[in-house]
Amino acid sequence: MCGIVGYVGEETGAKDIILGGLKSLEYRGYDSAGIAMICDKKIVTKKKVGVISNLEKIIGDPEFDSNIGIGHTRWATHGVPSDLNAHPHCNMDNTVAVVHNGIIENYMEIKEELLRDHDITFKSETDSEVIAHLIGVYYDECGDLHDAVTKATKRMRGTYAIVVMSSKEPDKIIGVRKDAPLVAGIGKGCNFLASDIPAFLKYSGQVYFIENNEIVVVTKDEIKIYDEDKKEIHRDVFHVTWDVDAAEKAGYEHFMLKEIHEQPIGIEETLTRRLTDSGEINLDGISMTKEDIEKFDKIYIVACGTAYHAGLVGKYAIEKMAKITVETDVASEFRYRDPLIDEKTLFIAISQSGETQDTLQALRLAKSKGARVLSVVNVIGSSVARESDDVFYTWAGPEIAVASTKAYTTQLVCMYLIALYMARTKGTIDNAYYDRMITELKNIPEKLEMIFSQEKDIEKIAEEFHRNNEIFFIGRGVDSTVSLEGSLKLKEISYINSFAIAAGELKHGTIALVENGTLFFALATQDSLTEKMGSNIEEIKARGAYVISIAKEGNELISNLSDRCIFIPKCADEVSPLLTVVPLQIFAYYVAKFRGCNIDKPKNLAKSVTVE
Ligand code: AGP
Repeated sequence: MCGIVGYVGEETGAKDIILGGLKSLEYRGYDSAGIAMICDKKIVTKKKVGVISNLEKIIGDPEFDSNIGIGHTRWATHGVPSDLNAHPHCNMDNTVAVVHNGIIENYMEIKEELLRDHDITFKSETDSEVIAHLIGVYYDECGDLHDAVTKATKRMRGTYAIVVMSSKEPDKIIGVRKDAPLVAGIGKGCNFLASDIPAFLKYSGQVYFIENNEIVVVTKDEIKIYDEDKKEIHRDVFHVTWDVDAAEKAGYEHFMLKEIHEQPIGIEETLTRRLTDSGEINLDGISMTKEDIEKFDKIYIVACGTAYHAGLVGKYAIEKMAKITVETDVASEFRYRDPLIDEKTLFIAISQSGETQDTLQALRLAKSKGARVLSVVNVIGSSVARESDDVFYTWAGPEIAVASTKAYTTQLVCMYLIALYMARTKGTIDNAYYDRMITELKNIPEKLEMIFSQEKDIEKIAEEFHRNNEIFFIGRGVDSTVSLEGSLKLKEISYINSFAIAAGELKHGTIALVENGTLFFALATQDSLTEKMGSNIEEIKARGAYVISIAKEGNELISNLSDRCIFIPKCADEVSPLLTVVPLQIFAYYVAKFRGCNIDKPKNLAKSVTVE
C-alpha cells in the first residue's frame, strides 16, 4: 500500500521531516516516491521512480525546503512505476497538490468530464491525478480549499486516503479518509497527517485516528475534524505507547503475525476488485476471451514454494469446476522437462513478488512455445506481471515477512475466481453452484475471524510441542495440498524437520517412521473423505502417533479419534483451504517464537528468490 506524509509547522524543515516519515513507511512496500512543498508561495514537486534514495538524489538543493509539504511512497495500482506516475500530483496551474493511497473506481468517468468540460491536460496514467484536477476546478468555483475538497470527495467512489495542499491557502493541509488508513499527529508548533503512526512517531505520540468519510484540516496550531457536511467532530487523543519498530507492525510483534491477521481484509479486497455488485466476475484488464477459454485443452500452473501450493489448490478447483486438464509443476523442474505446449495451452504463473527467477524463466519458456500466459501476482508492474498476456492481481498489500501467508490465501481466491469464470464460460457449472461458491468466498473473512478467536489455544499447542524435532502433516484431496503448505510454513521459520504426505500414501513406506509420540497434523476437512481420514488416524494412532486434527466444527468422528482437534467453521469442501491453512500458519508462528527464531527473516531465506 502507498505511504502518505503531510507536515505543517512554524519552522522550515519539512523536507527532512517528510523524507524521514516516508522512510518509516517503507515497510508498506513501494516503487516510487515524491515530495511537494510550498517554496516562495509556489508548489514545487520532486518525485522519482524506485527507492527513496533515488528521490534524495534530486532534492539536495537547500532552497527546496519549507514549513509545509506532503510526501508519498507509491504502491502502483493504475499505471506502471514511473517518474510521471509517482505522487504528488498537481492540477494544471500547479496551485493544488495531492497524494493518494487507494483506488478511485470512477476515475475514468471524472477524467472524461474534466477533459470534456474543463480542457484539462493529464500528465500521468494514474487515477490519483484526477483528484488534483477535480479539487482545482472546484477551488476555482468556490475559493475555499475545505469546500473544494469536500465537494470533490463526494464525487469520488472507491478507497482512498488523500492529503491536499494548495498554494492559495499555504497555512494548511487537508486530509480525507475512506477505507484507507489516515492518522493525524499532534506536534509542538507543528502537526502531521500520515498513513500510519511511524511516520511522525519520532515527533509525537499523540494521535487522532481519522474515521471513514471524515475530513481533517491541519494547520501548525490546530487539527480539526469534520464530517461531510462540515460539522466539526470531537475526537479523543490516542496516546501511543509503541516504539517506532513496533508501530510499523501496527502493534504486532512480527510482520508475519500482522500479515496472518490481514488475511480477511486481503481476501475481501481481492474479491471486491473482481466482483461486480451483482456478483459477476469482472475481468477488467484481462484480454483473454471466451473463445480463448473454449480453445484451451490443457492448463499448466507453475510456481515455487507457497505459490506452488496455491497452484495445487487451483488445479483441484479448475478441474472440478471447468473440467480442463491441469498440470502443476514447480518452476525449477518445469523448465527442464521439455513440456508439451502449444497455442491451445494456458500457462498460469503464480508469484507474490513477481520476480522469482525460476518462475520467470518458466513463463518465458511457455511463451516461446506458443502458450497464452496468465499470471497471479501481488506486486504491480513486476517482471512476471509485465511479461504475461494477462494478470490477475492479488490485493494482499505488501507482504514483508519471508514466510508467505496473506499472499497464499489471496492467490487461492484468484484461482477460485479463474476456475469459476472458466466454468461459467464453458457451461460446466450451473448458476446455483456459481452463486453458492461466490457466497462461500464472501463468507471467508468472517469465518477467519472465528479461527483467530482460537489463537490462544493454538499458541498453547505450539508451546507444548515446540521442542519436537520432527512433525508430520497429512491430508487427502485438497487437504493434502494444504498439508504441504503447513509443513513449509513450519520448517521455514522454526527450522523443524517437517514433512507432508498424502494420508493414503503413508502405508506405502513412510508409516515405518511412526514411533511412540510422533506428532501428526491430520487435515480432515473434506466431507467425502472423512471416513478415509478416520482410518488413517487410527493407523498412525495404533503405532503410537500423537494426532492433532483439523476438521469442520461438529465432526465428532475425527475429533473423537484424535488427541486434539482444531475446528474450522463449516464451509464447502472446495474453499476449505482458505480456512484450514490459518491454524497451521498460527501454529508455525508460535512454535518459531517459542524456539526464539528470527520469524520475519529466517536464516538462509530471501523474500524474493531472484536467482536460479
Ligand atoms: C513461502 O513462505 C516462501 N517465502 C517461498 O516458498 C515463496 O513462496 C517462493 O519463493 C515463491 O515466491 P514468489 O511467490 O514471490 O514467486
